[in-house]
Amino acid sequence: MTKMNRIVLASRPTGAPQDENFRLETAEMPEPGEGEILVQVAYMSLDPYMRGRMDDVKSYAQPVPIGGTMEAGGIGKVLKSNHPNFAPGDYAVGRFGWADHGVIKGDLAFKWDPDMAPLSAGLGVLGMPGFTAWAGITAYGKLKEGETLVVGAATGPVGSMVGQLAKQAGLRAIGVAGGAEKCRMAVETFGFDACIDHRGKDARAMRDALAAECPKGIDVYFENVGGPTLGGVLPLMNLHGRIIVCGMIAWYNGAEDETAGFPTGKLWRMILVNRLTVQGLLQTDHVARFPEFIKEVAPKVKSGEIAYVEDVAEGLENAPKAFMSLLKGGNTGKQVVKISDA
Ligand SMILES: NC(=O)c1ccc[n+]([C@@H]2O[C@H](COP(=O)([O-])OP(=O)(O)OC[C@H]3O[C@@H](n4cnc5c(N)ncnc54)[C@H](OP(=O)(O)O)[C@@H]3O)[C@@H](O)[C@H]2O)c1
Repeated sequence: MTKMNRIVLASRPTGAPQDENFRLETAEMPEPGEGEILVQVAYMSLDPYMRGRMDDVKSYAQPVPIGGTMEAGGIGKVLKSNHPNFAPGDYAVGRFGWADHGVIKGDLAFKWDPDMAPLSAGLGVLGMPGFTAWAGITAYGKLKEGETLVVGAATGPVGSMVGQLAKQAGLRAIGVAGGAEKCRMAVETFGFDACIDHRGKDARAMRDALAAECPKGIDVYFENVGGPTLGGVLPLMNLHGRIIVCGMIAWYNGAEDETAGFPTGKLWRMILVNRLTVQGLLQTDHVARFPEFIKEVAPKVKSGEIAYVEDVAEGLENAPKAFMSLLKGGNTGKQVVKISDA
């Protein structure tokens, strides 16, 4: 093979991304340099953060340049290795981009043990999103038995892990998800005590629905979504409550404030009166704990104690469609793209 395929950012979106913002290209197959590995990608991950990389604004990471390969994590088979930890035939997790092959430094790749779980799990339940949930909960959640936790995007890889960790710690876990089917899955597959369908609800309706399911108020809010869910949660936060700010997908396409005008002054006072802790979470800050996460969680995935659901799109060329759908909640479970049989 002398050629590879990749998807580049053709233009920056205004609002929701469209087909014309992406372009499929053929390029020369890269050669691994000193300390690098060449990988044939089997599965590529699609994640909400990729929407942020399409905008040229200041953030915790650089934007993708126009004409640059869209960023993504992936998992695949090592074809060539100039790194002592990897041999051809090994499996590696790393940032190969929206592409069917990639070269990265071996030091930045994680060697995947195929006995742990199917390959695609290395992008979800045992990958970055599962780790994000585990890192946020263990570092900042201070979970106590009998407390109540709320999380949005409850059937996604972050929310479903948050809910399962909360249940294992003896909390009441309330999910928020889009539609009756996802809410059923949140309860039946992931063990949430209840799940509220956010579709068609403004912040007041969310508050009423949450109040009915959280009779003792909310102690931990794992923030994945922003929007009306946030507006509904805030008035219900308890004394010494914790808010872990992980993401706010309702606003990624630049939508207007939808917290029913929840005023900043009122929020500030609420933080004081209830002595709330509001903690931003970025999984890369915790990456040194990744081996601890794998050691603790991989056996639970293997035994079925931790459940996971995946949504598999087929083929690199279908990645943009699957990504645009993800941003609207079209995915059910962790969205991956099958790139090859590597
Ligand atoms: N800080 C970090 O280090 C870090 C790392 C990983 C992920 N994150 C964040 O964690 C969150 C969840 O990520 P994930 O990978 O688990 O995503 P995901 O659940 O696989 O996909 C995103 C989900 O967000 C929900 N959603 C979309 N638009 C929404 C809206 N307007 N209001 C409410 N919900 C909406 C949809 O679920 P429903 O159909 O159920 O609404 C959609 O399926 C995201 O905000 C992501 O950016 C942060």
